[in-house]
Amino acid sequence: MLDIGSGPGHLLVPIAEAVGPTGAAHGVDPSPAMNALAAARTDGMPWVRIDDGDAVALPYADGVFDAAVSTQVYEYVAEIAVALGELRRVLRSGAGVDPRHGCGFAGVAHR
Ligand SMILES: C[S@@+](CC[C@H](N)C(=O)[O-])C[C@H]1O[C@@H](n2cnc3c(N)ncnc32)[C@H](O)[C@@H]1O
Repeated sequence: MLDIGSGPGHLLVPIAEAVGPTGAAHGVDPSPAMNALAAARTDGMPWVRIDDGDAVALPYADGVFDAAVSTQVYEYVAEIAVALGELRRVLRSGAGVDPRHGCGFAGVAHR
């Protein structure tokens, strides 16, 4: 599962706990400072990977994730159509996208 704009990794922890060590939890964020916080927060969970990257150019191949989430991130992205295209691109074929508005905007895709 992928967390786009994972920031300090608050959501990565429950994602990692949910998928467990036989799964994979990825966070991607353009901020080195945020990525350092996320790495510290998920230390001891080797199935978590944190990458430098942008929602408009995700550093992943097509169709590699079963699910993705992004909370309070897309409001900072000017090229929202490009970012949503990237969300769709990295999800496996057939995954649904469930956009929700709250205090931020979450794009959630699931089986
Ligand atoms: C308000 S924080 C939310 C962090 C995390 N998603 C959460 O809910 O705790 C916004 C995050 O979006 C990241 N961000 C800003 N522009 C981004 C972009 N173009 N692509 C991916 N992440 C971005 C920032 O670096 C920051 O970590």
